[in-house]
Order: sequence, then C-alpha cells, then structure tokens
Amino acid sequence: MCGIVGYIGPKEKKEILLDGLQELEYRGYDSAGIAVIEGEKLNSFKAIGKLENLREKTKEYSSEGFGISIGHTRWATHGKPTELNAHPHLGAYSYVVHNGIIENYQELKEELQKEGVHFLSQTDTETIVHLFEIYNNKMNDPFAAFEKTIGRLEGAYATLLITEAAPDTIFFAKNGSPMLIGFDGAEVYFASSDTPIIGKANEVYYLEDGEYGYVKEGEVHLFNAEGEKTFTKQPLTADKLSAQKDGYRFFMEKEIYEQSTVMSETIMGRVLADKIILDELDDDFFEGINAIKICACGTSYHSALTAAYLFERISKIRCDVEIASEFRYKEPLLSEDTLFITISQSGETADTLEALKMAKRAGLKSLSICNVDNSSIVRESNAAILTRAGIEKGVASTKAFATQTMVLWILALYMGQEKQTVSPDVLAKEIDAILHTPKALVVTDRLHAKLTRLSKRYLHGHGFFFIGRDIFFPLALEGALKLKEISYLHAEGYPAGEMKHGPIALADSDLFTIALMPKTMHYDKIKSNVEELSARDATICAISPESFELADDFIQTRYDTHPMLEFFEMMVVTQLLALEISVRLGNDVDMPRNLAKSVTVE
Ligand code: F6R
Repeated sequence: MCGIVGYIGPKEKKEILLDGLQELEYRGYDSAGIAVIEGEKLNSFKAIGKLENLREKTKEYSSEGFGISIGHTRWATHGKPTELNAHPHLGAYSYVVHNGIIENYQELKEELQKEGVHFLSQTDTETIVHLFEIYNNKMNDPFAAFEKTIGRLEGAYATLLITEAAPDTIFFAKNGSPMLIGFDGAEVYFASSDTPIIGKANEVYYLEDGEYGYVKEGEVHLFNAEGEKTFTKQPLTADKLSAQKDGYRFFMEKEIYEQSTVMSETIMGRVLADKIILDELDDDFFEGINAIKICACGTSYHSALTAAYLFERISKIRCDVEIASEFRYKEPLLSEDTLFITISQSGETADTLEALKMAKRAGLKSLSICNVDNSSIVRESNAAILTRAGIEKGVASTKAFATQTMVLWILALYMGQEKQTVSPDVLAKEIDAILHTPKALVVTDRLHAKLTRLSKRYLHGHGFFFIGRDIFFPLALEGALKLKEISYLHAEGYPAGEMKHGPIALADSDLFTIALMPKTMHYDKIKSNVEELSARDATICAISPESFELADDFIQTRYDTHPMLEFFEMMVVTQLLALEISVRLGNDVDMPRNLAKSVTVE
C-alpha cells in the first residue's frame, strides 16, 4: 500500500514527483505529498484525497536547479486520511516518506515522547523522522543516525529520508515493502515499482530486503547487515504505452477488452499443437511432489480455487487452497512433498509473501504465478511463471485473473503430461480449447450494449447472489467480488447446490440471482437450483448458451464445447455487468473507495 517516489538531479522536481505519483496512485489515494530541498531551500506540500488536489495546490511552485526530492501517495493504515497524517512527515529539519507498517511504533513513540518529542500525526511513520533527528543531534552524522534508526524499526518498510543536515543526499531503506532505484547517468530515481521511472531512467536496481544506504552526487552507497556491498544494475526495457487508456473510458474497461490479446501472450510458446512446454520449470521440478497447496488473496484466491478443481481432475494430484492471511496464523502442518504455489498479480501482497516465506522455512518447494517480474514474491520463489497480462491499472482485477487462471490450467495439463495422467487424446482436446480461449474472450458490441441496457434493472434490491457449480463456483465468487468492489452493492458468490441449505430464505423479487449455467458442466443440476429460486420469486439473470425460459433476463453465450471456454466467456459477462452497474451508479470505476491495487500491509 502507498507509493513512494524520489529524485536527485538538476531537473524540475515537482513534475517528476507528481508524474511518478500519478503512476502509483492505484496503490492508495487517501492523500499525497512532496518535499524538495534545493540548496538551503526546503519546500513541502500535502493534500488529502486524490493527486489532482496536490497538483492544484502546487501549481504556482516549481523547483529549478540541482536538488533532492521525495513524494508519497497514501493508503491509510495508522491514522485517518487527514493532511496531518499525510506524508512526507516533518521533524525539526528532515522529511520522511514510508510504505509499510512499523510494528513497534507505539514503543518507539513512547520512548521519543519521554525525550520531549511532540508528535503531529497519528502515523507510525512519524517515529522514523524523530528517531533520526534524536540520533543525528547526538552523533552529528546523518548516515550513522539513519543506520541506527533503521536498526530500531520492526515490521515492513520502504522509506526515503531527506534532511537539511545533508541537503544533497537521499537516505533509503527497504525491508518487506517494494522499492527500486533507477539511473539515468548521474540522475537517480526511487519508486515503489518501475512504472514511474519508465522513460526516465534506463537502468534499474531492485532493492532486496535489509538493504539501505544513501545517494549523493549520482553515487549510490548500498549496505546490508554485512556492510557496504556492490550491486549490478539491469537495463529498464519496459514500455509505458500499454499503461494508457487507449480511448476507453476506464482502465478496467480497456483491460476487459484486451483480455483476448493478452491471453495469446500468456499462451505463446507454452502451448504447442500436441504438447505443453514450461521452460520456467526444471525437468525434475515435480520430483518428490505428491500434493499441492496454493495460497493467495482476493481475486488471486479465486483463480486458486478454480485451479484446485483442475489439478485434481487433470493432474490427479491432491490440491488444497488457503487464503494467505488465514494460513499465516493457523500453525499449518506442512510436509516437504507438497509444492507450495502462490498466486499474485502484484507479487507484493504482504500476506501472500509471508505465507511463501513460511512455506520456504518449512522446506517446501515454491512456485509463483505472478504478473510482475522481479516482484518480491517472484524473487522469493524457487520458480515463477509469469502471467504476461501487462500492467493492470484498474483496481478491480480483470485480465490478471484471466491470465492467472490460464497459467494454472496450462500448469495442470503440463503436470498431467509429465506424470502421464492425461492421455494424448484428452491433451489434444484441452490444447484445442486453450487455443480457442482468446476468441472466447472477445467482447462483442452486441454483448456490451445488452449489458449496458440490462444494468439499469440491477441498481437496487437487497442483494445479489452469483451462483455456480464446480469451477463456476469460484467464478461466481469472483463475479460477486467484482460487483462489490466497484458498485458498493452487496453481492455473494455461492455454490448453487448450497442455496437450499439457508440462503434461499432471502429469496424474493428484490433478490437478484446471477446464474452461471454452462452447458458442458452439470447443466441439469444447476437448472434445478435456479428453478427453486425462481419458484420463490427471486429475479433471475441467467448466463448460458442454452435458452432458459424462467429467466427474467437472459444472456446467451456462444461457446458450448468446453467448460473452460464457457468459464472465460462468462467471466467477461460478469466483469462487464459490474462495470456498467458501477458506471450507472456514478462510481469511480478505476479507483473504488477504500481500496488500493497493491496490498503490501497485512
Ligand atoms: C480484486 C483484487 C484483489 C487482489 C488481492 C491480491 O479485484 O484485485 O482482491 O486480487 O488484493 O492481490 P495480488 O493478486 O496482487 O496478490
């Protein structure tokens, strides 16, 4: 959560910081702030709410000449989203920005208060700047004071500090939260991810946990527990074009539409006419593996639930799935013959990352399915398969879910192929379906127009149930999550066969049921479940290739030959329905309230 940027060099700093923060705004938009030191001049600005408020506030300000600067966009953890709680936090002569959570901040705060420090904010971050100044006042050595400060912090942090005591230096430290350093000759950038520095820096270094140091006159001095270390920069080749809206109203809309093309990228080179190739995995990768455990959060958890059906059915391997935040504290029994898979769009989700570290400590082999190369989760895993979805900017995940699910399907088949649990005939049919998936994801004008029209009937009511069976149950969960996130309406995903065990009591005409009714999977069973709801007057919106006379609204899908093709086509329908309901309600589709794209706190 929260995004950090920094810049040291001769260029105008305000624009560099604001442009960088714009790229990170998806990480949190409760408030934003910047601080700049040029020569002896120190300037700082903060504004609550979205970045445009900070832009407005700083429109008269510009910073010419060599200087140092830091910026922050916040997703509130400790302390309400107020201007006082916005970063950068000021001491007597220093500023700090921070992403993460300082777990021992109460204890540090009490210690500092005993020394007479007066706190302005309710944040954990403010302790960093006061600790630094207390040490610097005693030692008169800013780097030694920073090093000592970092040594006192427990928890997760990516932090930048600037101080009038060293007006040409940015101090940095990373532990548990992401941060990288970008280079363009003598100019140096900091950011929470590479998007803010694409087009600015041409080389990059991804900081590791426990690393800290300072930058001065274009030189970076990097330290870890063993002392100063050398490091290798890598070229930064990512391109920003794909991060623009391309004429769509919202990033989420663009990302729904581009699922068809990115899916081809996901498949490319991995699915041949008669076999699956996963170069990412060594030949003996599955040796000694008798079970799979998957950990993830949110939407990624839903792709994990889908995969569990596929692993057991196709690869004939036991697979269980856990929500990462639950797994971490349940004292799980782990055995070394289990492959530990994490799924994460961002690769930075704190709970998933911690679950992975726990599994590694227990000696399990790990594999991550991730959209961001070099992210913490990828770096922590024994192997990684990238989903190749491109940057996802809409906070409500769409193409990341689609590509995760595809990678997991490919992986299940690959395992089946290697363990010979799938026959060549079955493999050929599955491959044929995979190769048709990009087509199943195409959004037709007719479908979009229909969902736009239909959405006006679904703005009220006392709740939505998305129901499905088998792999369509996790899809129902995901459909409900999408709707909740961007419409703020109450929605639940439920296994269709479970409705009669309680929830059916809610049925009346104001209960909206979105029924996922695939032709290729338990059609008659789900049909009976929907009939039971219809008999109790629930309003039914059926999604199916088969016409269904009891439906109040009916969305006819095109694919009826393979469950996964039906899955992906229905996924698009649920995404567009959520989008159009949200638009009608006048909500911010790309940045829904209270959410952030990357959840780097537990
Ligand atoms: C919902 C959504 C979240 C994320 C969850 C995990 O649309 O995006 O539920 O799926 O926060 O994030 P990652 O996948 O980055 O680990």
